[in-house]
Amino acid sequence: MADVTSTWTEPSNTATALLLLGRGSDPASERGVDCPGELPAPSDPNLVARATAAKAALGDRVFVLGHHYQRDEVIQFADVTGDSFKLAQQAAARPDAEFIVFCGVHFMAESADILTTPAQQVILPDLAAGCSMADMAVLGQVQTAWEHFEDLGIAGETVPVTYMNSSADIKGFVGRNEGVVCTSSNAKRALDWSFEQGSKVFFLPDQHLGRNTAVLEMGFDLDDCVLYDPHKPQGGLTDEQLRNARMILWRGHCSVHGRFTLDSVNDVRERVPGVNVLVHPECRHDVVQAADYVGSTEYIIKALDAAPAGSAWAVGTELNLVRRMALAHPDKQIMFLDKTVCYCSTMNRIDLPHLVWTLEELVAGRVPNVITVDEETAKHARVALDQMLALP
Ligand code: 13P
Ligand code: SF4
Repeated sequence: MADVTSTWTEPSNTATALLLLGRGSDPASERGVDCPGELPAPSDPNLVARATAAKAALGDRVFVLGHHYQRDEVIQFADVTGDSFKLAQQAAARPDAEFIVFCGVHFMAESADILTTPAQQVILPDLAAGCSMADMAVLGQVQTAWEHFEDLGIAGETVPVTYMNSSADIKGFVGRNEGVVCTSSNAKRALDWSFEQGSKVFFLPDQHLGRNTAVLEMGFDLDDCVLYDPHKPQGGLTDEQLRNARMILWRGHCSVHGRFTLDSVNDVRERVPGVNVLVHPECRHDVVQAADYVGSTEYIIKALDAAPAGSAWAVGTELNLVRRMALAHPDKQIMFLDKTVCYCSTMNRIDLPHLVWTLEELVAGRVPNVITVDEETAKHARVALDQMLALP
């Protein structure tokens, strides 16, 4: 048992582990995105020196943002690390940087493009770094749902709220319909604001963040929430269910946080007496209910930093972050909540070779992988993002 609770063990260096780390590719199941030019080999012993030199050559022209779920090899080059909310704020606060290199996923880079000036360029080192949750809400589906709400006469009292983890199209839809973006750091504040504007919320795309915030932080009943399934006619809901609901939750979820189960919580409590269970609100409702603490990645970091020496923590969030926290706090027992390896494969697509390639291309005067949101979408999405940044 001691090895489970007190010692961090790296995943073994097998072909499977390498694939899980995103270093390999399965052509049958993964979208391939070729980088123009020469992508350095992962085995190149000079990668750190090359990234350091390229970043130094670019100086203040480049600003590197790193989400907490990024690999250590990448995070060491971030000028700022943070959760989605902090990174959105930081992107907006750097008007002088010519290039924002976003080490995160596609929807984050889109938000950064919307929040930065037209003279700035936002770059995603690997264009295949998407997000399965964001992909679960497609604009056409969302518009179909909204038209149904209009036909039912409930659209006027419904405020659309989208989690940051959604495409710019969806944020644009929300802005056009006087809603707000939220992140896991400010979901309650966004919902408080929304229920001052209307009597219902249409929450996209993460059902779990919506349900967990409404029920556990705002005192709603589970019965106040209904689940809109875009793959069923009229969301699989009756008119009466939609009329009575306070929270209409989109059927989307995070494939990483969705892996944690009530069994994982019960199991760790049995194995490690006195363990504190700390999870992200993207986890399923029963997991969050069974946990001792729940919060965004920034909250998780602060909780672990402040924990007393000798305390034990089972953490339900992405593995790069949990692993980094375990290594930073050897005096605390910090372990992953699940027994199996659980990286976010799309976050992991940004690796050191892609970062080196990006920075060296910039030094050479070429700007790769620019993320651009069209003006019309950006205008409306910005309304919803600004509303989030202005939340009390
Ligand atoms: P936060 O960064 O808002 O905690 O969200 C976690 C996440 O899943 C990002 O993709
Ligand atoms: Fe998307 Fe989940 Fe990965 Fe975040 S952790 S990028 S929500 S799949």
